[in-house]
Amino acid sequence: MRERLLAAEKVQAIEWREGVLHLLDQRLLPLQEIWQSYDSAAAVAEAIRTMVVRGAPAIGISAAYGVLLGVRARVAAGGDWRAALEADFQVLAESRPTAVNLFWALNRMRERLDRLKDGESPVQALESEALGIHESDREANLTMAQLGVELIRKHQGNLQNLLTHCNTGALATGGFGTALGVIRGAYLEGLVERVYADETRPWLQGSRLTAWELANEGIPVSLNADSAAAHLMKTKGITWVIVGADRIAANGDVANKIGTYQLAVSAMHHGVRFMVVAPSSTIDMALESGDDIPIEERDGRELLEVNGQRVAVGVEVINPVFDVTPADLIDFIVTEKGVVERPDAAKMAQLMCRKRLH
Ligand code: MRU
Repeated sequence: MRERLLAAEKVQAIEWREGVLHLLDQRLLPLQEIWQSYDSAAAVAEAIRTMVVRGAPAIGISAAYGVLLGVRARVAAGGDWRAALEADFQVLAESRPTAVNLFWALNRMRERLDRLKDGESPVQALESEALGIHESDREANLTMAQLGVELIRKHQGNLQNLLTHCNTGALATGGFGTALGVIRGAYLEGLVERVYADETRPWLQGSRLTAWELANEGIPVSLNADSAAAHLMKTKGITWVIVGADRIAANGDVANKIGTYQLAVSAMHHGVRFMVVAPSSTIDMALESGDDIPIEERDGRELLEVNGQRVAVGVEVINPVFDVTPADLIDFIVTEKGVVERPDAAKMAQLMCRKRLH
């Protein structure tokens, strides 16, 4: 299946070319395909904050390139470049709070710096570390797609109707996706009748990005309002909800795009299986439970306005953009290290001791 999956890789959203980071601007899709270029850590942090690039793995990969750009500039400026670099780590760490892949990538880059040998070029060392982070996310996508497809095949052999939330595809990762990678793989294996894509209010990752990715590849997709999901589970024979994650706590609780929790509750009620697909860089063993995961709140204008047009007045807004799905609502967590069924703290600890499967 690996070769067929590789052949299906079409879209890329992050490119490191000739010392510059290029990002496909996700704020403009699907109407315009415009690439932006970045040559400083602060500019990359701003791109993450404003969601030029988004999706947990893609944020981590971009942050790694951000550190590389920072090191290059600080070393060229001379003096105590390590001390100066702390400002770059900080601005990148403050760009978004929930996806732990950001902090994981920053730690990887810092650890590589700490291992520099005498005379070794910090720029070269960090360039190969950032490229390695990028490439290993791509590999993780391939492994997870194969594991997820096997679960679908094992639990329901025939054509499936799948529901997904947010965007977890090529735009959100270094490869062709986590949850969307499993969905792509299942389609290639002839297991998919239709994909239902939640529009994913308020930023509309589903309408603008997931629908675009799937429709471009001819995968049958219907876009639905988030509030239609329970109704669709009841009436459209949906067998799986498949989503990604931004941070998974040590007990298996999963933070993902706002609306995921209510999907899991509805899925349990309707006997629909619930699969979370995420690389191990999304697992935060330092947090005992999902209660400790910081939940980002974004600007209220995301709700007060539609396309710059005011739609509500005289009201306070609450705009948390992630929620936490308790582990006991989750059937499977699929990672590149393997699959955890009905996650709990002991199973998550066992998983993290394993090596990657590829
Ligand atoms: O706010 P976003 O668009 O960065 O949120 C993205 C999600 O919640 C995704 O589901 C998650 O990052 C997994 S992406 C492979």
